[in-house]
Amino acid sequence: MRKITLQTPLDMHIHFRDNEMLNLVAPLTAKTFSGAVIMPNLVPPVTTKEAVVSYKQRILKAIGDEKFEPFMTLFFQKYNKEFLESVKDDILAVKLYPAGITTNSESGVSSIDSVELKETLDAMVELNIPLCVHGETNGFVMDREKEFMPVYESLARDFPKLTIIMEHITTKDAVELLDKYDNLYASITLQHLIITLDDVAGGMLKPHLFCKPIAKRYEDRDALLKVAIEGHPKVMFGSDSAPHPKHKKEACGCAAGVFTAPIALQVLVDLFDKNNALDNLSAFISENAFKIYDINPPKKEITLVEKEFTVPSSYSNETENVVPMYSDEVLAWSIQE
Ligand code: DOR
Ligand code: ZN
Repeated sequence: MRKITLQTPLDMHIHFRDNEMLNLVAPLTAKTFSGAVIMPNLVPPVTTKEAVVSYKQRILKAIGDEKFEPFMTLFFQKYNKEFLESVKDDILAVKLYPAGITTNSESGVSSIDSVELKETLDAMVELNIPLCVHGETNGFVMDREKEFMPVYESLARDFPKLTIIMEHITTKDAVELLDKYDNLYASITLQHLIITLDDVAGGMLKPHLFCKPIAKRYEDRDALLKVAIEGHPKVMFGSDSAPHPKHKKEACGCAAGVFTAPIALQVLVDLFDKNNALDNLSAFISENAFKIYDINPPKKEITLVEKEFTVPSSYSNETENVVPMYSDEVLAWSIQE
């Protein structure tokens, strides 16, 4: 049986939520990853030092004894330098959402304008705090990311010393932008390396594959896969695992988000293996992120074995019930217990 040992895998974009959902999902990530970047789109969003610190404590409580570093983020608002200085040691990055673009982003930024956001972004440069961005306009759903490219370009040009992470990129346009600006980086999810809009809506509608940004065309998926499997130094794995209760996914207004936390590593190993790229997996899931963010997470070895794993229909506790991607399907690799 083949085995592969991964050193210190990281998930650079995840939604842990709060309360019973947090208690259900956080241990699943902490079991297989050494650290993760925790998104701040709670209700209300994480915008104060107290909120960051107490959320981190709730996460650490939820994961128990597992060796795992939650890298906290702050929800972007117009912050001054004094405030950012006070919170700098508690966060890894600030996450910018255009207002209303996705789950719990109502208090995001209504106009992403370099002049308007100058004070905050200048302070982030001075304090060396990266900016993570959900890059979509409110245009036609298939064009939202492409239409956002000029915003990334002006941010990258106007703030050349700001580290900018284009989160969960889904298009070849975003891939092409990566090499045009030294300070632009990207995270890529699991689902966007695998599916296209056809998988979501080409046959029977698949609510558990519906997320923002929506999966795009084959040429987009292929461009993402190419940079991931070649271990391109500016891309890193960020699952965007986004749990919603089953009844909110299997509903006539389906919440956006794909829950991949419990299957991400198993599927990534299979995907890189099938593309003869296992040698580049550590760049994608660990080393690139170490360098981009200058972090040194707790060392952790995770071994996977080429042994079938049947994905549970759902993960649940007393109050929550979430359906993972590939529920009830059989994966080729499992985590060695
Ligand atoms: O599909 C998504 N779900 N995209 C996001 O940007 C947010 C996320 C969520 O929080 O559910
Ligand atoms: Zn997200």
